[in-house]
Amino acid sequence: MGERFIGLMSGTSMDGVDAVLAEFEPFCQLLGHVHQPFPTELREQLMALQQPGPNEIEREALAGQALSQLYAVCVDQLLSQSATRADQVRAIGAHGQTIRHRPELGYTRQIQQPALLAERCRIDVIADFRSRDIAAGGQGAPLVPKFHQAMFAKAGENRALVNIGGISNITLLYADGRVEGCDTGPGNVLLDGWIEQERGLPFDRDGNWGASGRIDFALLSTLLAEPFLARPMPKSTGRDLFHMAWLRQQLARHPGLAANDVQATLSAFTARSIADMLRQSSSDLQALYVCGGGAWNGFLLRLLADALPGVSIADSGVLGVAPDQVEALAFAWLARCHVLRQAGNLPIVTGAAGERILGACYPGY
Ligand SMILES: Nc1ncnc2c1ncn2[C@@H]1O[C@H](COP(=O)(O)OP(=O)(O)O)[C@@H](O)[C@H]1O
Ligand SMILES: [Mg+2]
Repeated sequence: MGERFIGLMSGTSMDGVDAVLAEFEPFCQLLGHVHQPFPTELREQLMALQQPGPNEIEREALAGQALSQLYAVCVDQLLSQSATRADQVRAIGAHGQTIRHRPELGYTRQIQQPALLAERCRIDVIADFRSRDIAAGGQGAPLVPKFHQAMFAKAGENRALVNIGGISNITLLYADGRVEGCDTGPGNVLLDGWIEQERGLPFDRDGNWGASGRIDFALLSTLLAEPFLARPMPKSTGRDLFHMAWLRQQLARHPGLAANDVQATLSAFTARSIADMLRQSSSDLQALYVCGGGAWNGFLLRLLADALPGVSIADSGVLGVAPDQVEALAFAWLARCHVLRQAGNLPIVTGAAGERILGACYPGY
């Protein structure tokens, strides 16, 4: 039985799947990375499931099937790319696609068909990572901070990681070993939604469109007044709150803005909501490392640097893991935690009553 692990991540941006193959012993080694964009039809199916609608049970099942087939394609590619046999992989950590995240109601839902993935790949699949933490009274999110701590903590330095996916989440790794973390609000979700609506593009490449506009400070303060931002940790969020209807409501109070000015302001909103939460937690943060697709948005990074004077900012590549591989690697690592019967959550981050072994195993054979 091999000791390699695969992580499959498809996040709230709904851009596609990031998959990695890795070993963690004797040290972490990335052996492969694959990105598969969502085919248009699957993206539309998954997007439609974000809101209540008719015949959800069947639509969820079929979308989960299609997603698992795409996950299986990623696994096949990773294995052939790295000349690895299925029996050399101990387990796959498969996140699934979040279609609802309602910890306040005691549930979160990441759809997929883990049994189908196990049948296709003949590898143990660990899935449903979040619900046990919620059962223990936690938010079920973010789950990456324990991995960030294991991989990236450095004695003597106050450092933080921010993952700018659809939603943004931070992990604070203090010089004295303490850890904090939470979701901070939107990452790319509104930026993607607005440029798609206005220009028919999936995302604002390098932030160039946003950079061509001017930040509207009246709109920015309306956005920053969203109560979620001021809530103390633990907290998590999703498309349940930050969606286009929410944005339209805010924009209705500021009519007549040019579309690129809105994009500039949304970029500032993402940057400020991250920076404010970081500053509120740590007065002497030294270094910030950025991962997730937002790390490629140069305009966003400039705004983040403006909002965090004195903090050195780099992408996670300088720590040895490229920005688009950190989350998938985290779920490979969490699958390993499950196999070793080790806890994957940090109660201080999620608010759960205690450490818990996360996920359920669908045996591969
Ligand atoms: N070159 C780029 N310039 C600006 N934004 C980018 C670029 N590449 C990716 N992104 C953003 O990153 C998002 C994907 O980030 P990702 O970390 O995969 O998020 P998630 O985990 O939510 O799927 C895209 O939707 C897009 O907004
Ligand atoms: Mg993604």
